[in-house]
Amino acid sequence: MRQLGEVLRLSAGYLSEHGSPTPRLDAELLIGHALGLLRIELYTNFDRPLDEPELAACRALLERRGRREPVAYILGRWGFHGLDLAVDVRVLVPRPETEVLVERCLALLDGLDAPRVADVGTGSGAIALAIKAARPDAAVTATDVSADALTVARANAAALGLELDLAEADLLAGVEGRFALVASNPPYIGEAEVTGLEPEVAEYEPRLATVAGPAGTEVLERLAAAAPAALEPGGWLVVECGAGQAEAVRGLLAAAGAVETFAEPDLAGIDRVVGGRWT
Ligand SMILES: C[S@@+](CC[C@H](N)C(=O)[O-])C[C@H]1O[C@@H](n2cnc3c(N)ncnc32)[C@H](O)[C@@H]1O
Repeated sequence: MRQLGEVLRLSAGYLSEHGSPTPRLDAELLIGHALGLLRIELYTNFDRPLDEPELAACRALLERRGRREPVAYILGRWGFHGLDLAVDVRVLVPRPETEVLVERCLALLDGLDAPRVADVGTGSGAIALAIKAARPDAAVTATDVSADALTVARANAAALGLELDLAEADLLAGVEGRFALVASNPPYIGEAEVTGLEPEVAEYEPRLATVAGPAGTEVLERLAAAAPAALEPGGWLVVECGAGQAEAVRGLLAAAGAVETFAEPDLAGIDRVVGGRWT
């Protein structure tokens, strides 16, 4: 019978050999999930022997990760901006860099009373729900072209007790009224880049959520063009973009009439969040 500490060590080695960039963390999350233990409890149970059914449960999850399935899909849940969200193959796994976008949106909403906010391409509902959780007075609309994604977002909103106005739409087509702020983390990967993507993204995450078209900026271009009609006077469009795209996206916003633009880096120092204000 193997002890938990040894199983963790062997599992991290297995995941490292299979290409995980975070093998020890993955092993802890998956084994903790299989055994019903918090990560901290793993560390106080290193000597605990695991029986065969427990080892089999761990092995099943580790083998999925060994095939590079994202940990979030295996767990069925992922944390975003302090919220615990249900996620599966119908939606992108929310990323830490998108929390930078949320923080910037919240700062821009500061001082506005009961603002109307839109999240275009909501996926799991991550951005819309994080804003609604922090600003309960905001009226938040969340759109997606994917009916499947909206099903996930709706379930997350219900589980968290947060009210969203969800709409199946291409960008904001058919959505009435104007917004103080439109936020979006749209698909921004170019078709040629797909072969260079990690298997987690290329083989598991929805293509509709990641690939925008041949150039990668196609959805961002359409969002910029749609902004003037969607925003209240003084309103902001705030988008996430890919590494190396920020200057071009600032240019798109300026060309669409933004009077002021900014770019903000993510935690890795890459300009990732771009915003523009219209008068
Ligand atoms: C990169 S994912 C972002 C998901 C979520 N907002 C997040 O940050 O985790 C992009 C999302 O945009 C949706 N999408 C793609 N094209 C769209 C369009 N033209 N209009 C609305 N949503 C779109 C996809 O279905 C996907 O859910």
